[in-house]
Amino acid sequence: MNDILRRLGIEDVNPGAWAGKAISGDTGEVVTSYSPGNGEALASVRLAGVDQYNQVVEAATEAFERWRRLPAPKRGEIVRQIGDAMREHKDDLGALVTLEVGKILSEGLGEVQESIDMADLAVGMSRQLYGLSMHSERPGHRMYEQWHPLGVVGCITAFNFPNAVWAWNALVALVSGDAVIWKPSLKAPLIAIATHRLCDKVLAEHGFSGLLGLVIGGDADVGETMIADQRLPLISATGSTRMGKRVNQVVAGRLGRCLLELGGNNAIIVEPDADLDLALRGVAFGAVGTAGQRCTSTRRLFVHKSIATEFTDRLVAAYKQVPIGDPMDSGTLMGPLIDADAVAMYTQGLKDIQAEGGEILCGGTVIDRPGSYVTPTVVRGRPDMAIVQHELFVPILYVFEYEDIEDAIRWQNDVPQGLSSAIFTDSFRKAERFLAHHGSDCGIANVNIGTSGAEIGGAFGGEKETGGGREAGSDSWKAYMRRQTCTLNWSTELPLAQGVKFDI
Ligand code: UN1
Repeated sequence: MNDILRRLGIEDVNPGAWAGKAISGDTGEVVTSYSPGNGEALASVRLAGVDQYNQVVEAATEAFERWRRLPAPKRGEIVRQIGDAMREHKDDLGALVTLEVGKILSEGLGEVQESIDMADLAVGMSRQLYGLSMHSERPGHRMYEQWHPLGVVGCITAFNFPNAVWAWNALVALVSGDAVIWKPSLKAPLIAIATHRLCDKVLAEHGFSGLLGLVIGGDADVGETMIADQRLPLISATGSTRMGKRVNQVVAGRLGRCLLELGGNNAIIVEPDADLDLALRGVAFGAVGTAGQRCTSTRRLFVHKSIATEFTDRLVAAYKQVPIGDPMDSGTLMGPLIDADAVAMYTQGLKDIQAEGGEILCGGTVIDRPGSYVTPTVVRGRPDMAIVQHELFVPILYVFEYEDIEDAIRWQNDVPQGLSSAIFTDSFRKAERFLAHHGSDCGIANVNIGTSGAEIGGAFGGEKETGGGREAGSDSWKAYMRRQTCTLNWSTELPLAQGVKFDI
């Protein structure tokens, strides 16, 4: 067994449900986590079923009843200790992210750092869960709003950020006074187990073991039960638009709340006055980083006609030099795709692109070695190609030429998704045009920064088919709490609002 797994308490075969302790009973199904870097099996997990899910929800509900009674800053203090536990184990957790999902080590460590930062932010939030106060129209009355914990929150996460996206949700939910049930991707169960164990250990020291629950189960049984579960007032889900539509439909059917962070189809516009060195690095990290497997990855590039040949040539030259290989090696910049399905998505995508007349400028090959390696690809395309409307979760970048910035902005908006967007320009006017109300329609709009790698301090999420949710910083905590408007009468009269008379 790998030392990293051993130090993080990962066994050969792990139980699939945890509420402080492992919950016994299983579906008889086992899922094995393979390292995409070399195809080797890391460890297996017995999949949990609906019975175990119910036990986890019961434990979380019991813990929630006590947790909500702690003052928010005291909850924040415990979240601070959770952040410290992750700090202490950052190297092992980051390496496990790399082993299990194949992102390069610096990104694996960066992901855990994002979770640690999130803990720090949540500690601060725990003293800033502010409500407004209003002036009542009635004499001797006071009006204000307060924010209460919501309850047991369901959190569904994807393989590509198997640690940080949970932290965005769970750590804010914890300071808000909620419990969290986590259903991670079956492609990344081990990092979920390691993260959960670490955090539950801290909670157990304070008598709150089970407040964070983990259920590693299938979509058809555990997933469907979870989204239909009336005991869960909020489902926060990250993943494909197809998955999000299903979650939204079921949760809306019971008038629950959803927080959705779904597909992106992010674009960068490069103006002729841009610092092209900066733009090149921004595009390369956005499109090649994480092997194109971020929801914020750059998928479309609009380059002004006057610099298109020069910029595309430089990009293609840079792509050809990307060191691809073992994600644990410090020299590697691009690791593998998550699995064989992703490689199939890449090859099928390239066929569809060529069928529509897209021209592959570089890349476009599957690398013959153990693991799921492909080459990063640049395609010369047309904005009206049907495939451009879809998020292919692989390192394929379309390049388009434009003459008028108005066309570039229109084309960048002309997709169903609305997560992240960027412009590279040194012109103040062009930057402001891009950021104006009739500019980018995305949840994230950057100037002289690529589309990926957002900081946790801002609210993260996007519009249209990206789902409309906002997570992490700013006032995202409001999604995890319920607002209560309170009117207090300290007078000896009972005046009615709007001057209504009702004397008996
Ligand atoms: C995701 O891919 O689901 O902005 C999240 C970024 C990261 C988060 C990506 N901070 O690229």
